[in-house]
Amino acid sequence: MESLQSGCRWRTQSLGMALLNMVVVLLLVSPGRTEGRREKKKPDCIEYQAISCRAHSASLTDFGAVGDGTTSNTAAFQAAINHLSQFADHGGAQLFVPPGQWLTGSFNLTSHFTLFLHRDAVILASQEESEWPLIDPLPSYGRGRDAAGGRYASLIFGTNLTDVIITGDNGTLDGQGAVWWDKFHNGQLNYTRPYLIEIMYSDMVQISHLTLINSPSWNVHPVYSSNVIVQGITILAPVHSPNTDGINPDSCTNTRIEDCYIVSGDDCVAVKSGWDEYGIAFGMPTKQLIIRRLTCISPTSAVIALGSEMSGGIEDVRAEDIVAIDSESGVRIKTAIGRGGYVKDIYVRGMTMKTMKWVFWMTGNYGSHPDNNYDPNAIPIVENINYRDMVAENVTMAARLEGIPGDAFKGICISNVTIGLTEKPKKLQWNCTDVEGITSGVVPKPCNLLPDQGTDEPVTCDFPEEELPIEDLELQTCFYRKGHW
Ligand SMILES: *[C@@H]1O[C@H](CO)[C@@H](O)[C@H](O)[C@H]1NC(C)=O
Ligand SMILES: *[C@@H]1O[C@H](CO)[C@@H](O)[C@H](O)[C@H]1NC(C)=O
Ligand SMILES: *[C@@H]1O[C@H](CO)[C@@H](O)[C@H](O)[C@H]1NC(C)=O
Ligand SMILES: *[C@@H]1O[C@H](CO)[C@@H](O)[C@H](O)[C@H]1NC(C)=O
Ligand SMILES: *[C@@H]1O[C@H](CO)[C@@H](O)[C@H](O)[C@H]1NC(C)=O
Ligand SMILES: *[C@@H]1O[C@H](CO)[C@@H](O)[C@H](O)[C@H]1NC(C)=O
Ligand SMILES: *[C@@H]1O[C@H](CO)[C@@H](O)[C@H](O)[C@H]1NC(C)=O
Repeated sequence: MESLQSGCRWRTQSLGMALLNMVVVLLLVSPGRTEGRREKKKPDCIEYQAISCRAHSASLTDFGAVGDGTTSNTAAFQAAINHLSQFADHGGAQLFVPPGQWLTGSFNLTSHFTLFLHRDAVILASQEESEWPLIDPLPSYGRGRDAAGGRYASLIFGTNLTDVIITGDNGTLDGQGAVWWDKFHNGQLNYTRPYLIEIMYSDMVQISHLTLINSPSWNVHPVYSSNVIVQGITILAPVHSPNTDGINPDSCTNTRIEDCYIVSGDDCVAVKSGWDEYGIAFGMPTKQLIIRRLTCISPTSAVIALGSEMSGGIEDVRAEDIVAIDSESGVRIKTAIGRGGYVKDIYVRGMTMKTMKWVFWMTGNYGSHPDNNYDPNAIPIVENINYRDMVAENVTMAARLEGIPGDAFKGICISNVTIGLTEKPKKLQWNCTDVEGITSGVVPKPCNLLPDQGTDEPVTCDFPEEELPIEDLELQTCFYRKGHW
């Protein structure tokens, strides 16, 4: 008889069988028999949460892939995905990556598609440059970050897609980045290094439950996209590896980043929207962004950076429940004359920090231009920046806040923040220039440009109450079932 099935679980008997069994149990008075009624997990079935489930499935091994860590599987990945793309309009498809070490160069995703990594699957990034096609620079950047001109496509790349999922039960992407870091340090890069995951011009994107290690450069880069969920990602890179940013939402609308653990050589999360005259011309902001339950270790950079590329604007960012350990700064704003754009309506609450160089850092003097053609009259606007409910310990300096002369950063609010200092703190704890705002219940005592509002009417800085649309996006329980892997 067919077993009763719900998702991956199946009961060993139907309801009718259960009743019959009860009679048998009563007759035989055998307590051991009742165990048969417990739900069991089918051994060849995996359950996962996703924005959509798929009607069709295949395993990477169906396409001749070899998981020995040395055979290149670039062609197998691309053949599998090209084959599965035919199901886009027929319920979509999922590609299962079984246990093994799957060496590959860059490959491209398709719409209504899920890439699922088994927990013992490792996608190993090839170190052969020929395995990495060159693509154009991002239009909002005008050039590559490492070198003028083109850039290598990401390990997992997708553009102009709808409904695409990269997930697993904590399988691994290993960027094998050391060769790229050496080339970067030795000035041997003719093109910009690849990222691990880049999704461009796409809607409905999920990246979840994976471990990403040793990326050549940035780890996760959703760009010009909307309705993006990044969830349960572990990112690990040596803390001195160059530009190994964790998650960089870039000119994206409606994004939710949650339950991530990031140790990195650069910012854990960097929110961006294009670079100087290229970003201004492209004009696509990052807005409606949630970042919550993030743990970050970033000794040389920020827990969350806003900028420095922000020429398309950054607005309505809500960050909460953040833990930072041994990081240079908390939520920092980096911009420069020539960037244009804005950083506004930023809300942060609930941060616990231990061993920080600066808790707060903002600068309008970051420099770092793509070329000399930036407009010196393109002055960025920074306003309505809210930080509240934070505790930090072992801090060297509370705040370094440097606005732009004649164009102050305005509407800064900091409330209910207690900062404990290290054994050798800076004498000047708050260094403020060209900033305007207020503070309430902040220790140590803030600078005069951010006057304390006193204890009679303590201020609570804003955090919006109404939800963003991305919070309503519900995940479904999906499953992959396979006889072999
Ligand atoms: C992936 O798509 C990009 C952009 O369309 C293209 O340049 C690149 O060659 C594709 N990669 C592969 C492996 O086909
Ligand atoms: C992807 O979408 C962008 C923006 O709509 C468009 O400019 C570009 O031509 C599209 N690319 C492809 C390969 O369809
Ligand atoms: C995923 O794997 C990483 C690396 O082994 C580990 O640190 C992390 O705790 C794992 N996450 C889950 C949810 O199992
Ligand atoms: C970069 O370009 C130079 C000069 O064209 C060439 O000699 C070198 O091999 C190239 N390096 C790489 C890593 O492709
Ligand atoms: C102040 O912040 C702490 C967390 O750091 C929080 O537990 C507490 O409720 C906040 N106090 C008020 C009055 O909001
Ligand atoms: C405190 O911070 C200093 C750096 O300022 C660091 O060397 C030290 O290990 C930290 N102490 C603790 C207890 O974390
Ligand atoms: C304070 O900040 C200003 C502007 O960034 C800088 O020029 C100055 O050196 C800083 N002062 C100290 C004591 O760090």
